[in-house]
Amino acid sequence: MTITNLKEESYFSILNELPDFWSSSADTMRPYHHIMFAKYFPEVSFVAIEHQKIIGYLYAILSANQQKTFIHLIAVRKGYYRKKIATVLLNKLESTLSHLFPKCRQIEAYCIKENRLGIAFFSNRGFLQQGILQTQEKEAILFRKPVKNCCTK
Ligand SMILES: CC(C)(COP(=O)(O)OP(=O)(O)OC[C@H]1O[C@@H](n2cnc3c(N)ncnc32)[C@H](O)[C@@H]1OP(=O)(O)O)[C@@H](O)C(=O)NCCC(=O)NCCS
Repeated sequence: MTITNLKEESYFSILNELPDFWSSSADTMRPYHHIMFAKYFPEVSFVAIEHQKIIGYLYAILSANQQKTFIHLIAVRKGYYRKKIATVLLNKLESTLSHLFPKCRQIEAYCIKENRLGIAFFSNRGFLQQGILQTQEKEAILFRKPVKNCCTK
C-alpha cells in the first residue's frame, strides 16, 4: 500500500465509486466530497492505493493560522476494513502536521452518534470526546487529539 497526497484525478475516481466506500449512505455523503480538498488542501488530504486501486482516503482542512486541522472525511473501501488502512492515513496526517506544519497543535473530527465504526476508530486512535454538535439533522460527537511536535517527541 502506498499513501499519496490527494490529486484531482483521485478525487474524481473516489466520487465515481462512493458506494464502494459509503454503501447506502453514498448519496448522503456525496455533497461532503468537495473539490476544494484536492485544490486547496492536498498537503493534508491523502489516498491509500493498492494495486492501482484507491482503498482509502482522508480529507482534511488546515485552519488559516495553521493551528488546527479538521478531518472532514475518512473512509476505507468495503472489503478492506480493519486492516489498519484508516490508521495509516491518520498516521500520515499526523506526521505531515508535525513535520510541515509545526504550528498545528490539534486535530478535530466530528462523527455522527449513530456511526459506530467512526466512533470506535476515533476513540481507539487517541481522540477524546469533547462535546456534542447539532448538525443539520443529527447530533455529532466532537473528537480532539493533540498533535505531537516532531522536535519534542
Ligand atoms: C471508520 C473506518 C474509516 C475505519 O477504517 P479501518 O481501516 O477499518 O480502521 P483500522 O483498521 O485502522 O482500525 C483502527 C481502529 O478502529 C477501531 N475499529 C475499526 N473498525 C472497528 C470495528 N468494526 N469494530 C470495533 N472497532 C473498530 C479499532 O479500535 C481499530 O483498532 P484495532 O484493530 O487495533 O482494534 C471505516 O470503518 C470506514 O470507512 N467506515 C465508513 C466511513 C466512516 O464512517 N468514516 C468515519 C466518519 S468520517
